[in-house]
Amino acid sequence: MDKNSREYEVCVCRHVTRGAIEDFIKESGVTDFKEVCAQMNMGNVCGACRETVMEIIDSSR
Ligand code: FES
Repeated sequence: MDKNSREYEVCVCRHVTRGAIEDFIKESGVTDFKEVCAQMNMGNVCGACRETVMEIIDSSR
């Protein structure tokens, strides 16, 4: 699966896709990393997704 695909599962632990994160940021306007993770309930298990989540936040500013 292409990492840039909207279907790409960024947070495997919580089953959150890139598309879901992009939509959340767009709709909520939340761009604080901790806040995005808290509100989407992700990034709080193994932490492997955090770097990608930060990249998505950065590229959606
Ligand atoms: S992949 Fe996101 S917390 Fe494990």
